[in-house]
Amino acid sequence: MAEQGSQTRPLHRSRLAAANRPRALRYAHIVGWGMEVPSQVLTNSDLEAIVDTNDEWITTRTGIKERRIAEQRETTTSLATRAAQKALDVADMLPSAIDLIIVATATPEYIFPSTASMVQDYLGATNAGAFDLSAACSGFVYALDMAASKIRTGEIDTAVVIGAETLSRVVDWADRGTCILFGDGAGAVVLQGSDIPGGILSSVLRSDGSGWDMLTLPTVSSRDTYLQDGKHEMHRIYMDGKGVFRFATRIIGDSIKAALEQVGLTPDDLTLVIPHQANQRIIEYAAKSLKIPEERVYSNIARYGNTSAASIPLALAEVAERELIKPGDILAFVGFGGGLSWAAMIVEWSAMPARTAYSLTWGRRQGEYALAWLRRPLVRLWRRLMLLTPPAIIRRLRQRAGLAAEDTIETEPPRSRPAQEDTPPDSAS
Ligand code: COA
Repeated sequence: MAEQGSQTRPLHRSRLAAANRPRALRYAHIVGWGMEVPSQVLTNSDLEAIVDTNDEWITTRTGIKERRIAEQRETTTSLATRAAQKALDVADMLPSAIDLIIVATATPEYIFPSTASMVQDYLGATNAGAFDLSAACSGFVYALDMAASKIRTGEIDTAVVIGAETLSRVVDWADRGTCILFGDGAGAVVLQGSDIPGGILSSVLRSDGSGWDMLTLPTVSSRDTYLQDGKHEMHRIYMDGKGVFRFATRIIGDSIKAALEQVGLTPDDLTLVIPHQANQRIIEYAAKSLKIPEERVYSNIARYGNTSAASIPLALAEVAERELIKPGDILAFVGFGGGLSWAAMIVEWSAMPARTAYSLTWGRRQGEYALAWLRRPLVRLWRRLMLLTPPAIIRRLRQRAGLAAEDTIETEPPRSRPAQEDTPPDSAS
């Protein structure tokens, strides 16, 4: 937590805010999980045909045997949507009940709109807010913490948090130091508020921006000089592998211990650590620095490689699906990567192993997906029609429909503001 006493200016005491005070403190529980990976597999031997490498080097240096690669029709959004649908099945929840969708990703389809907004549309989650979160491979834990915080204050009740990546589209397939590491996939969880204690217990979020250039994926507005140094390319991953390795091994144990301390626990209390899957040697180091047996640190890197923000939810979905955890177990998630950033979280697992995939809600869920599919072209058509229809006719139609005059939809573009208003304040000189 930041140092106490950071408030330096006196504050106005609002009489209005008291009316909108959040409810009593709640707990954020993981009640649904799901994963989606492309079916296309790229093995280490397949890679031998692409770069100068071999299965033995990749296996011993990284632990990776194969990774999944998205086909053309598969995107970050489509993988994220499928993972979220599976998580909603497990939670037995309707898309319309979701209050918030956060997608942690380093490979969004667009800088805007957010991938989360597109997922919201595909799910038909008509009551949800949606945004993407950028914290590279730490992104999922950051996003889970953001959603859990809103649930704990009682502001929202249900959130879907997704980690999704199509890294195969941004790796440099000529760089054997990086292209062998990464894979595509998505994992999602449903978080729900409850008065029952448990769920997300604590978290530690950190960043060391002085290492920003150790792991990069440049996009529009990257500094020209950075892109002209011959090492870096637009939309291609660059990594100082050794530097990142040292950083990861330095923070992995300490950050978990710090998150455990917040709730008075020690590494001995941990049932399972689910670390970001970056390198088998880093995963083994986590066990060593926490002084726990290696079996208590989950690894599936051999099958999926490094899927960045997707790796932790993907591993969690596997663990939960295979019933390797039970209510009351203490889990630690730890993510680390570009930023440099890292995040650790302690969770008391609380989901009972109930199988409700074919409940009545299943049918209603499919109905909401179908409605979302139908709504999409109709809403677009409606928007077009509104643009083509003269404002006077729209006003008359709305009046006839009994809608107040103030509700009139703005159909004309707003007048452009005076130029000086758009000038950033510090560029005046
Ligand atoms: N196949 C065969 N040889 C390879 C190779 C490959 N795919 N990649 C590199 N090499 C070679 C190098 O050229 C070098 O050869 P040289 O000694 O003749 O120069 C040698 O292997 C050692 O390379 P180095 O980069 O020092 O290997 P390393 O042991 O540091 O392993 C990583 C490289 C990338 C596997 C490792 O640094 C790592 O995992 N770093 C952390 C990555 C990470 O976690 N990234 C994501 C964070 S989110």
